[in-house]
Amino acid sequence: MKIGILTGGGDCPGLNPVIRAVVRKADNSGDEVLGIKYGWKGLLEKDVMPLDQFSVSGILHKGGTMLGTSRTNPYKQDNGSKILHENFKELGLDALIAVGGEDTLGVANKLYEEGLNIVGVPKTIDNDLSATDFTFGFDTAVNTVMDCIDRLHTTAESHNRVMVVEVMGRHAGWIAGYSGIAGGADYILIPEIPTDIDDVCNSLKERHRKGKKFSIVVVSEGATLTNNALFTQEKKLDSFGHVRLGGIGQALGGLIEEKTGFETRVTVLGHIQRGGSPTAFDRILGTRYGVKAYDLVKQEKFGTMTALRGTKITAVSLNEATAKLKTMDMELYDIAKIFFG
Ligand code: F6P
Repeated sequence: MKIGILTGGGDCPGLNPVIRAVVRKADNSGDEVLGIKYGWKGLLEKDVMPLDQFSVSGILHKGGTMLGTSRTNPYKQDNGSKILHENFKELGLDALIAVGGEDTLGVANKLYEEGLNIVGVPKTIDNDLSATDFTFGFDTAVNTVMDCIDRLHTTAESHNRVMVVEVMGRHAGWIAGYSGIAGGADYILIPEIPTDIDDVCNSLKERHRKGKKFSIVVVSEGATLTNNALFTQEKKLDSFGHVRLGGIGQALGGLIEEKTGFETRVTVLGHIQRGGSPTAFDRILGTRYGVKAYDLVKQEKFGTMTALRGTKITAVSLNEATAKLKTMDMELYDIAKIFFG
């Protein structure tokens, strides 16, 4: 078989382990793998590179993606879907493995419904894809944020300050929730629940009243304050209709200082969370997804996505995976709340 593989959307640690696993398993079985560069853009432009076990050697521990990525939406281009169908055929592909988040897999699902042989692999640091317990990239991001919170603790404590940490998480507060619990945050704001600024300030005041002299507040970039809009860096939308988020950290820090009188500093972690080497968990999850994706192709189970359910890797329908986003588990948020104030 000739199997194409592409990585689309925001990069994250763990993409290279998937590519490596697909190629190694295919190579062992005498199948050919064609790397498609920069996500759907590469399939639109036939920008490809053959992959064998030598070309994927030494990439397991590297973050990012050796194939490059982009946020190209083929359905936003004239004849985009027609060109993809033609190029799929011209490149001689029997199947395509699309590695991505809600946007890339949404396109994969449409193309499957139009007749292409596609298998999906879920990735996103946001961990907001349905039908899988975890996406790779998330664990690495959480560990990076936890490490940053640990560092902020010592300086916060030395200066008696409130430290606000803005983290990624467009629609879901998984990163804020997990890293906040792991890092011992004193308040966590997530996109799922618009937060009353007075609640944050009262909670911090209560903590200081009990004798604590510093506090750590973790906020998702997609969180909102009651009756306020999303904080964005610009109004422009990308081809999937997303705006660039950012700014809630600064706004929140200013309000906290104004309303509590506590000196406050803000750190925006940004793309630091998407960079660097994948954790062992993400390397193993990526490897297991890659092997499973290859197996699904060989079994001709198209229109499916690899998923982690409990400890087992399984297959779910792309339709189910892309129908709605997986928002943060509120039982987990209730656990985080025990440590507020
Ligand atoms: O979708 C993953 C994500 O990291 C979001 O948390 C964030 O809002 C977005 O990507 C940032 O994307 P970009 O690469 O366009 O800056």
